[in-house]
Amino acid sequence: MKDIQGKSIRIFSPATVANVGCGFDVLGFALEGVGDEMVLAPKESPTLNVTRIEGCEGLPYDADKNVATVALKALLEAYGKKIGFDITIKKNVLPGSGLGSSASSSAGAVFAANELLGRPFTREQLVVFAMEGERVASLKPHADNVAPAIFGGFTLVRDVASMDVINIRFPSELHVTIAHPQVEVKTADAKKILRKEVLLSDAITQWANVGSLVAGLMSNDYGLIGRSLKDVIVEPVRSMLIPLFQEAKTAAMEAGALGFSISGSGPSVFALSTDRKTAEDIKNAIASIYAQEDIDTKLYISKINPNGCEVIESQEPAFSH
Ligand code: HSE
Repeated sequence: MKDIQGKSIRIFSPATVANVGCGFDVLGFALEGVGDEMVLAPKESPTLNVTRIEGCEGLPYDADKNVATVALKALLEAYGKKIGFDITIKKNVLPGSGLGSSASSSAGAVFAANELLGRPFTREQLVVFAMEGERVASLKPHADNVAPAIFGGFTLVRDVASMDVINIRFPSELHVTIAHPQVEVKTADAKKILRKEVLLSDAITQWANVGSLVAGLMSNDYGLIGRSLKDVIVEPVRSMLIPLFQEAKTAAMEAGALGFSISGSGPSVFALSTDRKTAEDIKNAIASIYAQEDIDTKLYISKINPNGCEVIESQEPAFSH
């Protein structure tokens, strides 16, 4: 504890798009510029104390309920030494948006603690700890938001038990347009409405698309990315929870999107495109669909964030012996 006494760290933890259409619970990517900022300051007493949450009302300060402190507890248990942290969180992505809000806080907390402690843990281990935060938020933990938040870029979680995470290369010019209609969809509810079984014919289509989407990303083949970004299992069910989903999809595709689907469990939707200009056209096309029905909608354009969580500022003790 002596080594880190008086230190503090400010980090950025990105919002993420999970599933990426066909890759339910396994694929995800990180966004640039949209995400949480957190400050962690170690302290002698072994308690976790959320001192302030900005940008969002109603999130719990209780260390057993806040996703960031639950994830930190998992990390500290593995670390084995008695340390505590004061934590402040600035939320830029609201819970229930489908943009990995809880993952942003859980991943950010364990990333920041690992940096302060001198990186005793691998990124795979950080994903395991952050998933404990996801367990609180959505009952059934999944890693397709926390993995890209920690690793950056596109990730595929092949296996959760052994935490086999693969970073997938992607075209550097790939853009994403996000639309977040201002209705809340809880991940736990969006999971409950899914059927427990799938038709073999749908499963064949889906795993063909996951394989070819990954191949398309790795070989910069935009045509293949577009043909593969199709979800025949989850999207047909969950799209019912999203206002004007089909209309927004048609508008985005007509504006030049490679593909369009639900971001995570929704209600946010995303469209991939080859360049900034097309991403802007898609944004305008979707905006006009939601404007026609007076549905308040937040829109973002981003490239894929290759870095994941990042240190913004690291504060050394005011004096040291
Ligand atoms: N894979 C999860 C789901 C992501 O779709 O339920 C939630 O953001």
